[in-house]
Amino acid sequence: MKQEKLEQKVIELFERQDFEVTKREDKLEAINDDQELTLKVFSSEKYSVQEVKQSVIEGDKVFVDQDLETVEEVLENVSVIRKDEEGKDYDLPSYELIGEIAVINELTVEESEAVEGILEHHPSVKTILLKEEPLQGEFRLGEYNKLHGEETETVHKEFGCKFKVDPTKVYYSERFSTERKRVVDQIDDGEKVLVMFAGVGPFAIMAAKLANPKKVVAIEKNPVAADYLKDNIELNEVGEIVEGYEGDVRQIVPELKEKFDRVIMPLPEKANQFIYLANKVVSEKSHVHLYIFGTKSDVVDYKGFELVNKEECGDKNPQLRRFCLELESKH
Ligand SMILES: C[S@@+](CC[C@H](N)C(=O)[O-])C[C@H]1O[C@@H](n2cnc3c(N)ncnc32)[C@H](O)[C@@H]1O
Repeated sequence: MKQEKLEQKVIELFERQDFEVTKREDKLEAINDDQELTLKVFSSEKYSVQEVKQSVIEGDKVFVDQDLETVEEVLENVSVIRKDEEGKDYDLPSYELIGEIAVINELTVEESEAVEGILEHHPSVKTILLKEEPLQGEFRLGEYNKLHGEETETVHKEFGCKFKVDPTKVYYSERFSTERKRVVDQIDDGEKVLVMFAGVGPFAIMAAKLANPKKVVAIEKNPVAADYLKDNIELNEVGEIVEGYEGDVRQIVPELKEKFDRVIMPLPEKANQFIYLANKVVSEKSHVHLYIFGTKSDVVDYKGFELVNKEECGDKNPQLRRFCLELESKH
């Protein structure tokens, strides 16, 4: 079996059991409320039995295809994934799964094959959307064509949090979930966190649920996204920690009376134009996570801040990478 196909089968197996699965170099990480597992997947197309033996460490869960089943005799924790005889091998375009909605980025195969294949792989999918235009405008919205189903509102689950969202009316990307987790993991107990450009609330709600901040303030201008933000604060029962505001950061941030230990600015197109706002609400040694598009060699200098880290986290196109700049305030 092809390596990609085998990995897809393993991912689906775990997603069906409510795990969040993330691909990291040569392994998959599967996380749910109770467990964190490392999954290693080996297809006979790419690996020999010897290579499998050398790549596995204690505690890994190992998945191989039928032609590598002798691995079971030499390693523990091995599952053999058999080719589904009746199942057809679909060629699938790249797509994102947001709750029960699949969003195809570009139709690289026949429309009917894409729809049939996605429904076969994900029986819970109710709607399939094709992105017709790239994200644009102040609210970062795309244009979509419905290839299957009608409903465009769904509830997406991510690291034990739930987000009600309509991807045709608000920005949401599940591909960014591990980056959000990386930032949230840095929050210390008792911090006050400000999330500008908050969307439907993924950073703010993950911060409140997965870390232990004193308070999180989230600001979003798109009124539809701001309504979802408020719904999601309730849905995740974090109303005592998270305050959601609808409005423009340029109006709301200067009115905030307090200082924040951490400011998150996830609008890579132009967050750097708003750094002066972060400057108004930080105190000594506060951290700012500022997203930008750029290249690795871009030199970045923000007055009043020291650059402590530049983390690459995705791209807009092959030339333009997305970075999270981690800045520490100097005042
Ligand atoms: C790239 S999205 C990120 C959303 C969310 N943080 C996430 O990770 O899913 C940026 C968001 O900023 C909002 N936005 C753009 N300009 C804004 C402004 N001046 N004030 C407040 N929100 C703004 C957009 O509507 C959009 O929802």
